[in-house]
Amino acid sequence: ISASKGGYSHFMLKEIHESPLAVKETISTMLSDEAVVEASRIISNANRVFVVAAGTSYHAGLFFTRYLNLSSLTAIPVIASEYSSYKAKSGDVVLALSQSGETLDVKMAIKKFRNDGASIISITNVIESTISRESDVKLYMRAGPELGVAATKTFVSQVASLMILKSRVLNEDTSYLAKAPQILEDAVEETEGKMKRWSTLIDFPSVYYLSKGIGVPLAMEGALKIKEVAYVHAEAYPAGESKHGPIALVSEGFPVIFVNPGLDELKVNMEEMKSRGAKIFSISTVNTNLTDNEVIVKSERDLEPFALSPPLQLLAFYVSVNKGIDPDRPRNLAKTVTVE
Ligand code: G6P
Repeated sequence: ISASKGGYSHFMLKEIHESPLAVKETISTMLSDEAVVEASRIISNANRVFVVAAGTSYHAGLFFTRYLNLSSLTAIPVIASEYSSYKAKSGDVVLALSQSGETLDVKMAIKKFRNDGASIISITNVIESTISRESDVKLYMRAGPELGVAATKTFVSQVASLMILKSRVLNEDTSYLAKAPQILEDAVEETEGKMKRWSTLIDFPSVYYLSKGIGVPLAMEGALKIKEVAYVHAEAYPAGESKHGPIALVSEGFPVIFVNPGLDELKVNMEEMKSRGAKIFSISTVNTNLTDNEVIVKSERDLEPFALSPPLQLLAFYVSVNKGIDPDRPRNLAKTVTVE
């Protein structure tokens, strides 16, 4: 087993380190995939796009809905198990996202939306998965197998897939994506030591992850990851919304992690939390000078998810290991949930 971990202590750590390669594969295969062109044609002509997924895949999907909603198209994120709250009709498209391609809630949602009259496009990592077989157009991430229960490299690979798809839909140049693997690699290399140190500072029963705009799905994913592998209660909020409730819990030493994709506006929220006694952490593409606990990751415009994801995953990993938990096999969780 240790050989298959390639010298790493855990699959999760190995897979975080494999992210640059996974994303490179995703980009090169999806850029030459005719099915991506077909999918983008269908999405461009869609009435509405329902982006259906669970867990980490749902967070990746939020990037896509954001991109489309900023254009003239309409995209609706749907948590797979909540499909009964929505009704599709002919002309609508479902984009199903599932690493495994086997998540039961996603399968059930597809079935329902197909009955409503929608056509189905899927992105999975497993070739000929059940979900891909049930789709009109099947796309693949080709991130390589992921064995850790927590999704890591497949998350960034999903994000890359969705960036390619939206660039095709919106007729954008895709050359900016070529830098994604390097940004990931630098982020892993340059933040691992610091995340190891920070992991000893997360000594509170709860943590907030706050962000804005493109950073919000990353904050949500960071919070999910630390819950999953380190059993730390975590909540993600758009920073602006944190004034409406969450801030009531903040007292001396409450850890608040800011995920900052280069937005100056977040400084106000940082000050606000600091003045309530919060212990501020900042994972940022820019220097804010508001806390000693700041890690700056190099990024390029629109590629921030690749710079900000690795430290969030590494932090969850090291908090887990510090607590003596096996991050590859967290209690009560399964890699693929095939029950309702
Ligand atoms: C489980 C896994 C998560 C994953 C989710 C969706 O909860 O533990 O890591 O994000 O299922 O899985 P999928 O294969 O559909 O992406």
